[in-house]
Amino acid sequence: MALDEFLAELDQLAEAAAASFSQSSDTSSLESLRVQILGAKSGQLKSAQKGLGQMDPADKPLAGKHFNQTKKRIEEAYAAALERLETTSSTQEASCFDATEPGCRPRIGHLHPITQTIQELKDIFGRLGFSVVEGPEIEDERHNFDALNIDRSHPARDPLDNFYLASPSELVAAADGDDVIEGSLESPWLLRSQTSTVQIRVMEENPPPIRIVSLGRVYRPDTADATHYPMFHQIEGLLVDTDVTLADLKTVLRIFCSSYLGEDVHVRFRPSFFPFTEPSVEVDMQWGDGWVEMGGAGMVDPNVFRAVGYDPEQVTGFAFGLGVERLCARRFGITDIREFFKNDIRFLKQF
Ligand code: PHE
Repeated sequence: MALDEFLAELDQLAEAAAASFSQSSDTSSLESLRVQILGAKSGQLKSAQKGLGQMDPADKPLAGKHFNQTKKRIEEAYAAALERLETTSSTQEASCFDATEPGCRPRIGHLHPITQTIQELKDIFGRLGFSVVEGPEIEDERHNFDALNIDRSHPARDPLDNFYLASPSELVAAADGDDVIEGSLESPWLLRSQTSTVQIRVMEENPPPIRIVSLGRVYRPDTADATHYPMFHQIEGLLVDTDVTLADLKTVLRIFCSSYLGEDVHVRFRPSFFPFTEPSVEVDMQWGDGWVEMGGAGMVDPNVFRAVGYDPEQVTGFAFGLGVERLCARRFGITDIREFFKNDIRFLKQF
């Protein structure tokens, strides 16, 4: 390549580059120009550099010097253009800033309505002298059934009505590719179907008297509809002492209902059956229109006391279990509990 041709090419490149840099109107287009012209891999300057290799050795020193000067010129033009764009954008921003404008209000979240309800229920029962305890959501059959006087043949234990978990040996069999015949191996774990499990855990660990509530999630394979969901929350209450009667149970539930819903709430107890209470009642509430079933309750069955090592001749007690979603829905006039779990912000932000 002839020397004068090479020098002319470099001068042309430098002029064109300076013109494009000075015309660019924002930093991102300037950056793409930089890559196009100065880019280390395939920029225009890089391709021009290749001409240097084909140069007559005698011309090389001059050509190399001119190449370096051109590179410097282009880099300076780029730096000048960058400075021009950066200073104009910051003065533009500065001129737009108005300290008297109201600020942007940050979006602050809040607790889910069910969590809020749980906190309120804990408060109400706390004032009645009940302390709050927690229990595990994965349970064994003793706490979910046996100690609650629900024997092996009881329909509540049906695998179709519970979320049984695979046992370790079933998991091993499945991993080995063996067929697992449901129920053929031991399945001692399940997602608790009721919070009554916590009654057993508390009595196993503590001597009477007992006065606790426990609030948390329970699981049943129900099809979701307006009043059912495969996961929901219960509040469980247990009071054990000497000479506790059904009148105490009714009083506590009445006080609770009027504290939560208001003095105008009506509470109704219907005779019912639960294996772990005797007698048992169904608890309904009327507040506004219609009666709504809120849960079950009753006097602790002597068999339950025996299962935890209490003497049923010495102590008596009552227990109740109410649905948290139903309580919250009743209070706020919500007609479909599925709303609680859709995570639709338009619903949730109303609480
Ligand atoms: N565990 C019962 C249920 O889930 C409710 C209940 C609790 C009934 C305590 C009586 C006593 O349906």
